[in-house]
Amino acid sequence: SEAPVITVDGPGGAGKGTITQLLARRLGWHLLDSGALYRLTALSAMKQDADFDDEAQLARIAGELAVHFEPTPEDEPVRVFLDDEEVTREIRTEACGDKASRVAAMPAVRDALLQRQRDFCQPPGLVADGRDMGTVVFPDAEYKIFLTASAEERAWRRYQQLLEQGQSVKLPDLVKDIEARDERDINRSTAPLKPAEDARVVDTTGLSIEEVLDQVLAVTGRT
Ligand code: C5P
Repeated sequence: SEAPVITVDGPGGAGKGTITQLLARRLGWHLLDSGALYRLTALSAMKQDADFDDEAQLARIAGELAVHFEPTPEDEPVRVFLDDEEVTREIRTEACGDKASRVAAMPAVRDALLQRQRDFCQPPGLVADGRDMGTVVFPDAEYKIFLTASAEERAWRRYQQLLEQGQSVKLPDLVKDIEARDERDINRSTAPLKPAEDARVVDTTGLSIEEVLDQVLAVTGRT
């Protein structure tokens, strides 16, 4: 496609969701939350009582996902729908995130979602949030960012996010979850989590949202 792409990859809790939403809004570009597609695949599979060891079945579910996203005003999260039912909160639970990272390790599932992700690339441009945006889905992207932060800081941010959503979680459990998920994302053989060779790595530990956004905008040559 002809539209420019900014890829923002990195581990969970590094601030990608917040930053990419602000960035897309600032630029007036489209936003792809690829993690949501894996979460939606997991949710759809759970609703259909699928076998989480059956890769072919999960890939079929991924290919058949009937989803849509609705933009929201200011800093509210984008609204997410599965089969016309709103699941914005449901896909953010730890249970769904855990199942998502399991289905995401399956090559047939990743394959089934590939073209759907590329279809988000429309004028005037796309901000793509995920783990393999710069390495696999949009290898020719104009701008590539890899956001990281220490595991403690990422667990702490996720903790506050989940509390805000009214979910009850324990911080030590969250640190364990985040480390387990990182390990799965980094060590899987298909599209493992790693910075693209031409990505700019930004460590967000101790930085404010505005400071991160400034650094990311600087990479794109805009301020
Ligand atoms: O970013 P988020 O936490 O919503 O992603 C959920 C899971 O989906 C991640 O833990 C990861 O395993 C998987 N994922 C992926 N590739 C992407 C985006 C997400 O494997 N591009």
